[in-house]
Amino acid sequence: MEKIIIFDTTLRDGEQAPGASLNPAEKLEIAHALCDLGVDVIEAGFPVSSQGDLESVKQIARCLKGPVVCGLARAIKADIDAASEGVKYAKRPRIHVFLATSKIHMQYKLKKAEDEILRLAVESVSYAKRSCPDIEFSPEDATRTEARFLFRVVESVIDAGATTVNIPDTVGYTDPQEYGSLIRAIRENVPNIDKAVISVHCHNDLGLAVANSLAAVRNGARQVECTINGIGERAGNASLEETVMAIKTRKDIFAGVTTGIDTRQIYKVSRLVSKLTGFVVAPNKAIVGGNAFRHESGIHQDGVLKERSTYEIMKPEDVGFTGTGIVLGKHSGRHALSERLKELGLKLNDAELDKITVRFKALADKKKTIFDDDLISIVDDEIRLIKPIFGLEAFEINSGTKITPSATVTLKYKNKSLAATSNGDGPVDACYKAIDKITGVKGELQDYRIEAVTKGKDALGEVGVKLKAKGRVVTARGSSTDIIEASIRAYLNALNKIESF
Ligand code: KIV
Ligand code: ZN
Repeated sequence: MEKIIIFDTTLRDGEQAPGASLNPAEKLEIAHALCDLGVDVIEAGFPVSSQGDLESVKQIARCLKGPVVCGLARAIKADIDAASEGVKYAKRPRIHVFLATSKIHMQYKLKKAEDEILRLAVESVSYAKRSCPDIEFSPEDATRTEARFLFRVVESVIDAGATTVNIPDTVGYTDPQEYGSLIRAIRENVPNIDKAVISVHCHNDLGLAVANSLAAVRNGARQVECTINGIGERAGNASLEETVMAIKTRKDIFAGVTTGIDTRQIYKVSRLVSKLTGFVVAPNKAIVGGNAFRHESGIHQDGVLKERSTYEIMKPEDVGFTGTGIVLGKHSGRHALSERLKELGLKLNDAELDKITVRFKALADKKKTIFDDDLISIVDDEIRLIKPIFGLEAFEINSGTKITPSATVTLKYKNKSLAATSNGDGPVDACYKAIDKITGVKGELQDYRIEAVTKGKDALGEVGVKLKAKGRVVTARGSSTDIIEASIRAYLNALNKIESF
């Protein structure tokens, strides 16, 4: 069996998705989860882009033992120096250098001719090689690059020491047949290609990122770059979970290749990334969407009850999808809760378990049946990696069809209780205005969403907000059976995120 190297770029290309800003603690948490998932390479960031990114790459490089830790760099010495500084403490460091090679990028963006691009590509790889043995090179916009020039660049960077050559479909322009043929042509026309791994990196502008990546694998690519939930620049990148599950499910087509991913961790990592980036996963999203394993029509339900494989091509448990099984109730104790959390892959220390037990008991008083998704949601909400600078102590609202909504909110701040009252367009708006009065931070709410975590009138509501304040845009979530409380929690999480940057 040949192993397909899974190169995860959630923390780099994924984080480039507008509004997906993650703080260093959140990035580290995701990196650990990716490590447990079994990814081979983690692209931890673009170190030259900010001091924060450099520090975060360094922290991930120091902490992770298994995967290769990679830093991105343009073909510029300062970028390569920063990437090298970022990954130098990794057990297995990699520098990923990129430079555009398509006519359109060379002419309008870089204003350089082919020979100069070729020289820069070779020089930058040689320079990076001095500080790191594992070098990846990406001819950016490869799928719109003239094939003749692409072959020349790939051959030259391999001669200069590149050990992986990545062929990015930067603007999501190609289709499976064209891309598969391109990978095959590279294998046939680049004389030294056997000295490097061919990698693919597909964007989803036409919704073809996973299909293109898989076509490349069938034509000899042995590294796939992807992100959890497919997040990334514009329409995103190829999704890790879809790529991996396609290879696993269609062993007949992908004969002879496999990945090292522990697929039972997929759902949990997807939830974590969704929670920390604030990007809600669409219910119909393949593999990790809430409906991915739900059968609604009677004919389907009947078929599945008779024989699962009639309508299920994958087992939900193979991706760690626990569905909506009733797990615990009012009379369940700390021990049962702790066992169930462990089964869900949620490792908590004693102090965290105490917090979750309190939240769980409060929830069990309001809600008869507690589902796995409820538990995941309260853990997500409570064990946040955001410093709780402002905490919710109490709130009271007054709202109705014939009165102006008003709210009084009390927050805990540095062991003090601070309260304010405000009117608003609705109860949520009144609460947010009261919070703004207390914190003195004027937030601009750019997005607000609410969804039920599970079914039923007593379902836990999860609110996601996108907040702009102090020149930053962040996303955050909060949950409660009371949607006003969930809204306040989400807003406070976003504010705390902004305050702790
Ligand atoms: O899409 C792209 O071309 C990239 C490169 C940096 C590999 O993200
Ligand atoms: Zn990209």
